[in-house]
Amino acid sequence: MEIFLDTANIEEIRKGVAWGIVDGVTTNPTLVSKENAVFEERIKEICETVKGPVSAEVVSTDYEGMVKEAREIADLSEFVVVKIPLIPDGIRAIKTLSKEGIKTNATLVFSPLQALLAAKAGATYVSPFIGRMDDIGNTGMDIVEEIEVIFSNYGYETKIIVASVRHPQHVLEAGLIGADVVTMPFEVLEKMFKHPMTDIGLERFLNDWKKYQDYLKNKT
Ligand code: E4P
Repeated sequence: MEIFLDTANIEEIRKGVAWGIVDGVTTNPTLVSKENAVFEERIKEICETVKGPVSAEVVSTDYEGMVKEAREIADLSEFVVVKIPLIPDGIRAIKTLSKEGIKTNATLVFSPLQALLAAKAGATYVSPFIGRMDDIGNTGMDIVEEIEVIFSNYGYETKIIVASVRHPQHVLEAGLIGADVVTMPFEVLEKMFKHPMTDIGLERFLNDWKKYQDYLKNKT
């Protein structure tokens, strides 16, 4: 499974990259606006830090605007993946961009049929928003399973990014399904390390070791 961080916060990205387990980053207009940073500069900085796929989103909603913006964003770095919303003009833009070799991530995906359209248009990635589905009383992860089946039925190479992840259980479920990528907030990644038995076990080992050192010291 590839792990992406869903953040535009450079400190979080640096920490995750230093752990050696972060493969990429996804951002969106909300995440970038929280950082109070210049969009182009922050995307370049993230790309230089992670040296893996970095999704950066267009804000135009018409075909011409999206394609123009996507080309400019793609010029920022070889690692850029342009995020395009799953609307009819977005699908048309994905088709054009994929012919030009520009990597795309179809975002705001809430159904397997939307994912099918993105794959047909040649999207590099498709991002089903699991948490937001759960928020409205659906089981978000169901659509990941359905997308997996459709993509494998037709041999689509579009990768699935499980997005809008809220907690480690989402990551576990995505792993059991075999999703290609999970993008998660930094705090979810931090939580994945945690287990009380690890803390208790480590404390016990260190105490026993200290006791042994004291014993050796007193013996001499
Ligand atoms: C995906 O790429 C989006 O940036 C993100 O996962 C949205 O998550 P949210 O529902 O927590 O805003």
